[in-house]
Amino acid sequence: MAIRTLLLVLCIIFLLVSPSLSGRTQLERQRKAIEISIGVGVGGSGSGSESPTASPSPTDNSCGCSPPASPPSSEPQPSDFPNLKQYYAYLVIQRFKRSITCDPNGVIQTWVGYRPCTYQGFYCAAPPDSPDTPTIASVDFNGFRLCAPTVAGFVDQLPDVALFHANSNNFSGPIPDLTGLPYLYELDVSNNLHSGPFPADVLALSNLIFLDLRYNLFAGSVPASVFALDLDVLFLNNNNFFRPLPADLGSSPVAYLTLANNGFTGPIPRSICNASKTLVEVLFLNNKLSGCLPYEIGLLSIATVFDAGFNQVTGPIPWSFGCLLKVEQLNLAGNLLYGEVPDVVCRLAKDGNLANLSLSGNYFTSLGLSCWDLVKSKVLDVRHNCIVGLPEQRPPSECSKFLWRPKHCPVSHYIPCSLSNCSVKPATSKSKSSEYMTYKALHQPPPN
Ligand SMILES: *[C@@H]1O[C@H](CO)[C@@H](O)[C@H](O)[C@H]1NC(C)=O
Ligand SMILES: *[C@@H]1O[C@H](CO)[C@@H](O)[C@H](O)[C@H]1NC(C)=O
Ligand SMILES: *[C@@H]1O[C@H](CO)[C@@H](O)[C@H](O)[C@H]1NC(C)=O
Ligand SMILES: *[C@@H]1O[C@H](CO)[C@@H](O)[C@H](O)[C@H]1NC(C)=O
Repeated sequence: MAIRTLLLVLCIIFLLVSPSLSGRTQLERQRKAIEISIGVGVGGSGSGSESPTASPSPTDNSCGCSPPASPPSSEPQPSDFPNLKQYYAYLVIQRFKRSITCDPNGVIQTWVGYRPCTYQGFYCAAPPDSPDTPTIASVDFNGFRLCAPTVAGFVDQLPDVALFHANSNNFSGPIPDLTGLPYLYELDVSNNLHSGPFPADVLALSNLIFLDLRYNLFAGSVPASVFALDLDVLFLNNNNFFRPLPADLGSSPVAYLTLANNGFTGPIPRSICNASKTLVEVLFLNNKLSGCLPYEIGLLSIATVFDAGFNQVTGPIPWSFGCLLKVEQLNLAGNLLYGEVPDVVCRLAKDGNLANLSLSGNYFTSLGLSCWDLVKSKVLDVRHNCIVGLPEQRPPSECSKFLWRPKHCPVSHYIPCSLSNCSVKPATSKSKSSEYMTYKALHQPPPN
């Protein structure tokens, strides 16, 4: 798991920080039978060492003699290519090229000649089942800003592809059925114009470990079976998903989960405790989630980021949150929370790794003993609550109106971990929020 997470983190850094470099990832999957290695050191954005221009065809006459007697056929023949797989890839790429309606970076002008492995955005490797036949193994169009009505008939017709990265293009239409691609493990179609319901064909991709659909126009519900996929990363933020989150969300093995900036309703599923050994960062931020804050969140023993800010979640904070010994960013701002901010949660700043506790814009009425220091040190933000004796609180009329409302959430003082005096070692350096995988996923790459 440690190696897997490290590789993943490296991979995501490539993906998010430097879209134009992500094609250079040397990430080698160490899972299952996937052992395809991705072209290394070939330029992602026209910086390749090989000239991506047309390779001279074997029939070209380079000696300056008279042209061949028979008229040159405009149709390339399989024998013009290093192997048959590359010939078929060539046909697929040329057909896709004809459907492209905008190409502000001049990418597709490199898609000429009989060496598709040199085309910008394409990387070759030999697939596991034919080690002597290098062909297109990775398609990395991140940041190319190509326009095409669909990628169906293209990526689904490149059978040896392991990665398809298409962040920041103007691709629309459905996500094609990719079940014919046995090696595919990373699918990134983020920041495009894909619309319609959740792309159901994705659910059949049992080898997928990275699924990034953020910044599209997908709408409706997210099927429960997404959370049965064996993913490490699932980014669904900034779409138009609504409806309740599936109750068995917690069966997902993902480490990084973003559901932010959609319209999800209903409660945060209690099954989240089943993700306690795998979930590292989760963003529920800015939806329409409601219900009581579940006790089970406190069981997320390796979570460093838990963000359910700007929803309509209510209740007191269960004392189980005091067991979030790894949490650095805990954001519950802009909800309908009330009661006392538990001392045991504030103690996480000293005994755990808590660096930022955002509870502003709720209806808390008092603070646990250890919380007062955190207000002073600005780790804890409790502005716009109902705490007597603190500045910048809600007007009393607003507070009493809320406080008179009937409350139905349980008060849970059970602490499901042994805190005693054996606290975890505080992190030597706490990350800045710009370094978290999930928070980075909330930013679109800047326009080229
Ligand atoms: C790509 O899509 C964006 C968002 O809809 C649009 O503003 C932009 O004009 C499109 N670019 C082209 C070249 O069509
Ligand atoms: C956690 O998973 C187990 C086994 O799959 C299941 O029986 C249980 O109901 C789940 N817990 C919650 C709270 O959903
Ligand atoms: C703390 O978290 C809140 C909510 O996520 C964020 O707006 C704020 O910038 C963070 N503060 C620091 C110092 O990281
Ligand atoms: C915890 O504190 C108690 C006394 O308060 C002490 O006897 C015990 O040894 C401490 N345990 C650890 C692991 O430091």
